Amino acid sequence: MNNEVNSNELLSLCKRRGFIWPSFEIYGGVAGMFDYGPLGSNMRNNIVEVWRDIYRGREGFIEIDSETVNPREVFKASGHVDEFSDLITYCTKCQSAFRADHLVKEFFDNPDVLSPKELDDAFVKHDIKCLECKGKLGPVEEFNLMFKTTIGPGSSRVGYLRPETAQGIFVNYLNLYRYNREKLPLGVIQTGRGYRNEIAPRQGMIRMREFNMMEVELFVDPTDKGWSRFPEIENDMITLVPNTGTETVTMTVGEAVEKGIIANKVLAYFVYTTQQFLIRLGIDAKRLRFRQHLKNEMAHYAADCWDAEVLLSFGWIEITGIADRGCWDLSRHAEFSGTELTHFKKFDEPKEMEVVRVKAKHKALGPRFKDKAKAIAEMMESKGPSDIKGGKLTLRVGGEDIILGDEFFEVVKVTEKVSGERVVPHVIEPSHGLDRIFYSVLEHSYAYDKKEDYTVLRLAPEVAPIKVGVFPLMEKDGLDDLAKQIYEKIHSPTMEAYYDGSGTIGKRYARMDEVGTPWCITVDYEALSGPSKGTVTIRDRDTTEQKRIPVRSVPNTLKALLSGKSFKDI
Ligand code: ATP
Ligand code: GLY
Repeated sequence: MNNEVNSNELLSLCKRRGFIWPSFEIYGGVAGMFDYGPLGSNMRNNIVEVWRDIYRGREGFIEIDSETVNPREVFKASGHVDEFSDLITYCTKCQSAFRADHLVKEFFDNPDVLSPKELDDAFVKHDIKCLECKGKLGPVEEFNLMFKTTIGPGSSRVGYLRPETAQGIFVNYLNLYRYNREKLPLGVIQTGRGYRNEIAPRQGMIRMREFNMMEVELFVDPTDKGWSRFPEIENDMITLVPNTGTETVTMTVGEAVEKGIIANKVLAYFVYTTQQFLIRLGIDAKRLRFRQHLKNEMAHYAADCWDAEVLLSFGWIEITGIADRGCWDLSRHAEFSGTELTHFKKFDEPKEMEVVRVKAKHKALGPRFKDKAKAIAEMMESKGPSDIKGGKLTLRVGGEDIILGDEFFEVVKVTEKVSGERVVPHVIEPSHGLDRIFYSVLEHSYAYDKKEDYTVLRLAPEVAPIKVGVFPLMEKDGLDDLAKQIYEKIHSPTMEAYYDGSGTIGKRYARMDEVGTPWCITVDYEALSGPSKGTVTIRDRDTTEQKRIPVRSVPNTLKALLSGKSFKDI
């Protein structure tokens, strides 16, 4: 069996067998858009369940589901309106559009850090022309990747389709924080669609315009970036490409933190968790590495970032980004929304501290505001110095805004016993591209025997879209009735079974192997009479070994296999 993959052959298998289909095919299709067929949907859901098992099950994180259309304010605050762009160039002759950095890939190690001017110069130096018509390329400019829309009729309320699910978590921070009883760490996960108007989507499912994400946002105390479970994994190995060079190094997770290669323990823990997750799904450990972003490559929000990259037929491709987003998101949303998004960090013991307070000038407030003066003074003193904008405090009292100058308040330093302080949590984010993971798992599971013209997808059982094929040796003499009974008994959303009675038994095994089904049950004549009456064969995909097991133990045997029992031990 050969593991070399031709992506076109794999995509054609995916299409033929109902994993994925190009969207809107009867209308000619749209680049960068795909639909999941029945097997693809099953497999994609199975990947999501493994992710949930790790984050909700093991780590105890909570899951939400937020809106995909967001008002402009959200992405203005997050920085996407101003920063979320790629560099584009149009052919001056045929108007084809290209991602400028992709055109100079062979001349630079990291072309995505080049400026528009550097790219213009590189086109001249390397004589780069339009890939379609060889025309002259126009000046490189920025192209914002978000899909713009309007919310409601008219065009007054601008909205965007979200380019990441993360912002839905950040804007819900207060709800989530309260739900978590105002404690950190607070881990939140979300899976759903992300939308990016990619300039030139190629490479199948690697660059889509509407794609699926599984994102994790972990809010932590900025002064404590440890992780309680870190000792469990600190001696385990991880494969890294630090941004100090281009070399791949393998070391323990603990060593990576000690040497300052990964910024902190909590980030390192989730880089390692990503490695575990991907290997559990069937990614080949030898074709997986974690590459640290160069300082000038990092997204506008990131303080440190590692990409999980896998080696595919297209080369090394990022499938997950794990970033320390610092306090960027919460600080920005606090600034733009005027809502405090902090964590109250209690001290072990109350401390005497000098604090800055806003103090009401009662003598000025009384004569001016009469019976409202007391309420205004109380509200004023609940504010902090950061609420004073341009020397004025705006308070909402009895439904109206009152703007007060410094004749009504003063800012004073006082020593107080304080029980804690407010801090802006930092965010650690493992952001998984579900479609890229899905495709990578397929490539890494693919094996083809050219001589026999035989394909096997060696999918991990928990990921495989069909867990078991059920066949009667012949569709007659009651073999089909028993096979159907077995199928009915075992088939469920977690034990997807497939009944197949047509063609030779070899062809039926081949059909199941091609879609990665780990086991097949065959009902033969021995099941109906003779010493083996009441037994059927079960075949293991990877070894092709077969065993006889009693019909009554089929459901439990399959459950045991799916939970990890080895075929040789059944
Ligand atoms: P790239 O540099 O390849 O465009 P990115 O750095 O923009 O990727 P992130 O913003 O870190 O990607 O997004 C998180 C994850 O979402 C990526 O690791 C990837 O798996 C997935 N992703 C991003 N863009 C796309 C896309 N256009 N199609 C499919 N998956 C995507
Ligand atoms: N949420 C990570 C990203 O989309 O970049």
